[in-house]
Amino acid sequence: MIIAIDGPSASGKGTLAKKLAEHYQLAYLDTGLLYRKVAFDVIEAGEDPANIEATEKAALGLDMSNVEESRLRTPQIAEAASIVAAEPRVRAAILQFQRNFAKNPRGAVLDGRDIGSFVCPDADIKLFVSASAQVRAKRRFLELVAAGFTGSPEDVLNDIEARDARDRNRQAAPLKQVEDAYLLDTSNLDIETAFRTAVEWIDSK
Ligand code: CDP
Repeated sequence: MIIAIDGPSASGKGTLAKKLAEHYQLAYLDTGLLYRKVAFDVIEAGEDPANIEATEKAALGLDMSNVEESRLRTPQIAEAASIVAAEPRVRAAILQFQRNFAKNPRGAVLDGRDIGSFVCPDADIKLFVSASAQVRAKRRFLELVAAGFTGSPEDVLNDIEARDARDRNRQAAPLKQVEDAYLLDTSNLDIETAFRTAVEWIDSK
């Protein structure tokens, strides 16, 4: 079974994806982390995330062993990730990695922006997880503060809205809900209720 989960930032898709992977004993891939790592490597190399040659080079050399996740979960890397992710050459370079992961004999859960639409269009289950920008900004703010962030809630909301717009309006594999995806709006749902709703829907399929 392949479960494809897409949605905007801080919609709760990562937490849900992890819980579903555990529940159904499937392998899990957070594809956002791949774009974050490409952005991180570009910045570490002293290059601009908008530089196509530099981003493609980083994507072709992507190495996910020894990833220090906390260094990838900053607002700066999130912003840079959405810049490198708009580049078709970057997306092409890491497409096969994602598709190979999805071929895991145990089955897999992948979350991102284009899993149901592009990476795994034949996934057995497609979920589109969403929530209002205000709710998502509040969740992300609390996560970032716990990790030492000192900015304001408004900064986080502005970042989320800018990234949403970039992810939805880009030419290459934009964020969108595909027709056969089940919409899960988590604005008023806690994680446990979102998880149970998803499991009920998956089991009924
Ligand atoms: O954690 P959050 O949901 O805020 O972001 P993420 O899933 O780590 O993704 C970071 C950025 O990578 C997104 O803003 C997208 O621009 C990009 N991304 C993408 O284009 N396609 C994916 N399948 C996953 C992430």
